[in-house]
Amino acid sequence: MKICGSGKVNHKIDKHEAKVVTKIDIEDLGDVTAFCRCWQSAKFPLCDGTHNKHNKDCGDNVGPLLMNRRTDTS
Ligand code: FES
Repeated sequence: MKICGSGKVNHKIDKHEAKVVTKIDIEDLGDVTAFCRCWQSAKFPLCDGTHNKHNKDCGDNVGPLLMNRRTDTS
């Protein structure tokens, strides 16, 4: 689905809700977790790489938020 410049960022995720809110316990995340910031992922709130197609179709430059689990405690 090509969505460029319509004025909205969310075109399909939980549209029945007044606001999309996601709560994730940090203990449940892997060492590196990619969160979607383009609102195009089929695995939202996780990134599935769909931002690459969006960027190509729309000339945009969006990408995920990467959360890294710090393993050293020193
Ligand atoms: S799919 Fe949305 S940032 Fe990757």
